[in-house]
Amino acid sequence: MTEEPQVPTATGPESSATAQPRVTVVVSGSGTLLQALLDNAQGYTISSVLSDRADALGLERARAAGVPTAVVELKDFPDRAAWNQGLLRAVDTFKPDLIVLAGFMRIIGEPLLAAYDGRVINTHPALLPSFPGAHGVRDALAHGVKVTGCSVILVDAGTDTGPIVAQQAVEVLDDDTEESLHERIKVVERALLVDVVERMAVGGWSVEGRRVRLG
Ligand code: GAR
Repeated sequence: MTEEPQVPTATGPESSATAQPRVTVVVSGSGTLLQALLDNAQGYTISSVLSDRADALGLERARAAGVPTAVVELKDFPDRAAWNQGLLRAVDTFKPDLIVLAGFMRIIGEPLLAAYDGRVINTHPALLPSFPGAHGVRDALAHGVKVTGCSVILVDAGTDTGPIVAQQAVEVLDDDTEESLHERIKVVERALLVDVVERMAVGGWSVEGRRVRLG
């Protein structure tokens, strides 16, 4: 018999009751984008940080800021469908108004998207619809583009296919490596994400077809 996976439990202090919009940030890695949000959140509360990796540095950043965390690792579930349900249960614990995927390297499944329809955004290190997927910087460099950048999108069922909320361009230099280019993109991406999350969380947004307007 397969054991029912544990529902991830929140760690860290309970967030205090607040009238501010609640934002959950989901990370897989170093979490420098998360840090920018933690340092600059105004008019909303980062009420939780989730990760698919227990060793994600982003979780340390959240704990240091006193933000509750939860870990939902794929290996703790019998299959991806169960993991997706686990992810939804973890998110539900925190009841966010907006979910921000900030360096989250997995595809979000239908359960979370259905429950938080239109309220999940993702940031991507390329100018979508060019270079979607896990290697946006590498693919842009290999293609020889002279300008790339970053995109914040509403997440839909595809891979980096959702309506575009905001974008910023970054020039590609002749001697760029994947690392140097990604670092320059992330400088721009942090500022863009801070701006977009505040505008969405505080002012709201509307979607008409594929066109997103911030409140
Ligand atoms: C960011 O550049 C983000 O766009 C990218 O991971 C980086 C996270 O940086 N996400 C993806 O590529 C998702 N497909 P960080 O860990 O330093 O915040």
